Amino acid sequence: MKKSGFLMLMLFSARLLAVDLVSPDGRLALDFYLDASGAPCYRLTLDSQPVILESRMGITIRDNPGLFDGFKVLGFERSTTDESWEPVWGEERRIRSHYNELEVTLERVEPEKRRMIIRFRLFDDGLGFRYEFPRQPGLGYFIVSGEKTQFNLTGDHLAWWIPGDYDTNEYDYATTPLSKVDAMRGAKMYEISVRSIIAPNAVQTPLMLKSREGFYINLFEAGLVNYPAMNLLIDQRTFSLTAALVPDALGNMAYLQTPEKSPWRTVIVSRDAREILASRIILNLNEPCALTETEWIRPQKYIGIWWGMHAGTASWNMADTSNLKLVSTDWNALKPNGRHGATTAETKRYLDFAARHGFDGVLVEGWNIGWEDWFGNWKEEVFDFVTPYPDFDVEALQHYAEERGVRLIMHHETSAAVTNYERRMQEAFAFMKRHGYHTVKTGYVGRIIPRGEHHDGQWMVNHYLRVAREAARHEIMIDAHEPVRPTGLHRTWPNWLACEAGRGNEYNAWSGGNPPDHETILPFTRLMGGPMDYTPGIFQIRMEYYKPGSTFQVHTTLAKQLALYVTLYSPLQMAADLIENYDRFPDAFQFIKDVAVDWEESRIIAAEPGDYLTIARKAKDSPNWFVGAITDEQARSATVALDFLDPGTTYIATLYLDSKEAHWQNNPMAYRIQKGLVTAKSVLKMALAPGGGAAVSIMPAAASEMKALRKLK
Ligand code: NOJ
Ligand code: CA
Repeated sequence: MKKSGFLMLMLFSARLLAVDLVSPDGRLALDFYLDASGAPCYRLTLDSQPVILESRMGITIRDNPGLFDGFKVLGFERSTTDESWEPVWGEERRIRSHYNELEVTLERVEPEKRRMIIRFRLFDDGLGFRYEFPRQPGLGYFIVSGEKTQFNLTGDHLAWWIPGDYDTNEYDYATTPLSKVDAMRGAKMYEISVRSIIAPNAVQTPLMLKSREGFYINLFEAGLVNYPAMNLLIDQRTFSLTAALVPDALGNMAYLQTPEKSPWRTVIVSRDAREILASRIILNLNEPCALTETEWIRPQKYIGIWWGMHAGTASWNMADTSNLKLVSTDWNALKPNGRHGATTAETKRYLDFAARHGFDGVLVEGWNIGWEDWFGNWKEEVFDFVTPYPDFDVEALQHYAEERGVRLIMHHETSAAVTNYERRMQEAFAFMKRHGYHTVKTGYVGRIIPRGEHHDGQWMVNHYLRVAREAARHEIMIDAHEPVRPTGLHRTWPNWLACEAGRGNEYNAWSGGNPPDHETILPFTRLMGGPMDYTPGIFQIRMEYYKPGSTFQVHTTLAKQLALYVTLYSPLQMAADLIENYDRFPDAFQFIKDVAVDWEESRIIAAEPGDYLTIARKAKDSPNWFVGAITDEQARSATVALDFLDPGTTYIATLYLDSKEAHWQNNPMAYRIQKGLVTAKSVLKMALAPGGGAAVSIMPAAASEMKALRKLK
């Protein structure tokens, strides 16, 4: 349905024209207008209460007047869309996209008459808008030098934030009012390899906010393509937030050519925190799947030769010599250090374990030459991605894996030498295909080459997508570590299974780690744009187990590590611990073996950012349900009414709980398992220890089990 506004326009003076748009349920309302200087402005209300006050829009352009004022409105068009679509994998089988759209065409009052379109989409749970630059005589090639987009808030909202940064999202979250944000707290986080903090008042998106009136507001972007990532600068007196783009090596933001468009800017808002997590605006604003064949794309659970390197029991490098040259070093002559993780024998042991316990994949890091001097040198030729260390037999392992029906997962640490990776990528993917690899974990640790570029700038944003596209041509799935944070592009490129792009579990192995509230904040921030390869499932919580005297530890209980498989959604989930630790706790390990990675349906039962989260999910093509409940440093109880179960079925529920005396710090590995029968009428009430959690599997009971088990109360 389309309605044009050209006629109506003639009735108004262009300058003060105001157009409004309401969400399909009528509760969200948007106003668009030009102010006295011809600057485009918008405003957003929920149930007539302000969410975003008058806020400016537009971009600045290098060596030219920008596109942010001096406009008149040429016309506008409205339309409504209500459709649903099926993701290749996800948190539910079908996703509804229902919105009212307003397209406003603006023209600058100037000889070139440059035009810009602003497209608004208003859903029941929030707003998306973007700038479009149509092909036109007065605007061909141009350089974006900044963005004027504002989100002017109504007060000093509580914020869950990490420092605005051009290179990393691996900070832990601070929770403060906007007026108390001090991004320089990140300056001392030396455990993050590259930090480029923008300013003391800069924060990253997704930014999660809560107003005094109880509005939960999430500010972010969707469909980040050919443009730098958006951070936000806070005016700490007026609570006006302005877009801050990531520059390139010369200080420019984006090189564009018409026709082109910006990513979507998004405002998700609700009085109910659960609705923020249930929102699918980010996905709905992305383009449909670009692939015609998707059969080869598979959600997967994997183990790997990995945690040992982080916990310090093994090394990536085979030798300890440094200052090596990729082209001239005789790698066969190097003296092995005796700690190399990625050996043929060790990989076979992991393949056996994966086959025995039903895992799809085995990741092996440190298999290829170059790790002796990969870190911190800003060196371009570190890895070639095709030459194994002498003690890693690619052919033998290919056969060994095939015989066991397990797939090896490739690792490409680029050490941020991206030019090098671009030159070698084709050959590397072809090598993977020849040797039976279908998934690659990429990595970008270090300062970017081309030197001066940032992880989150336009050049790198385009690089990550080039890799995803090229991988798709080879039918290869991607798990990117240290990329720009995801913005829903996995709808378009579903072979891009997951990203790290945040502070993962590994920080617990070798730094102050992730505080107990970390995993209750991630879903409201980092995960808004897409799945995270967080690598849960660490059972051996304290690192002193490996290294006497170490104070490093995972900041959760063991039971909470299990719950994360449900609360941190990803189609790619690692059982991240050393396999010998799973042999120590086979009954708890059972949950990781059982839990699904692709879902028919998901229900957010309870949520408060920074405090707690309970989610129930039904596995795709299966009657099984899984529940995860987590808390921050406070003990709590999680109540789950099982009314989502099929009313005619009796199920067997297995509860993986914190023991009474469990505590993330003092007694993290104390858990207990309880089993019993449940129906749709059952209500589970589970105690969560400080820093704890609970995981539950619910599967239809066989007749024999019905006799042997009692009803759970
Ligand atoms: C950082 C990644 O996040 C981690 O998972 C990986 O092991 C190291 N880089 C080495 O590539
Ligand atoms: Ca990382």
